[in-house]
Amino acid sequence: MNKGKFITFEGCEGVGKSCQTRLLKEYLNSTNQEAIFIREPGGNAVSEKIRKLILDPNNNDITDLCEAMLYSAARAQLIGQVIAPALDSGKLVICDRFIDSTIAYQGFARGLGVDKIKTMNELVCGEYMPDLTIFLDLPPSESFKRKGGCDTSDRMELESIDFHNKVYEGYLEASRMYPNRIVRISPRGTKQDTNASIVKNLQSRGLIK
Ligand code: TMP
Repeated sequence: MNKGKFITFEGCEGVGKSCQTRLLKEYLNSTNQEAIFIREPGGNAVSEKIRKLILDPNNNDITDLCEAMLYSAARAQLIGQVIAPALDSGKLVICDRFIDSTIAYQGFARGLGVDKIKTMNELVCGEYMPDLTIFLDLPPSESFKRKGGCDTSDRMELESIDFHNKVYEGYLEASRMYPNRIVRISPRGTKQDTNASIVKNLQSRGLIK
């Protein structure tokens, strides 16, 4: 039985997830609320190594299933080493990307099937599912413009715009699958506006003060 709270951030490349997790961190610090901030894939030594392997543009022969399993392996390690102990001891955990990335990227955009990925996610997560997911809802046609193009050292970002459009559709599908958990927030306003609506949302659900 986990007692802590688990919040995840999701969205296409360039929607401002890192910026919003940083602003949330600043808000929590300024109000003396403790939280553990992590990212996926990564967040510990083994998962960071898996991250390098997955994102290396030289590894362009990784099969879709292998890719899905590598993301899941990185997640299993992160849950075992960081998320489970933190939630079990009542802490607040905030993760930049989690299971809905696998639904959107591998299940939907790669075409492995969202049901198969849902089953894999459940196997890997067990009881350690997010309490709430903030989906920063902006299509790639807008998010890549804000970002100023793709990061050429990242194998996933180098995918075609069609792929990234499918990722966006995958997120919409995940939102339909988990209507109570996934909250759609538009990041079209200023960074501060988006931060304010995230904080308000988390407060209204009793996840933060
Ligand atoms: P990041 O650059 O936002 O840290 O994420 C790394 C990349 O990995 C990003 O392109 C999204 C992708 N990704 C997946 O394809 N599946 C997943 O399960 C996760 C967590 C990330």
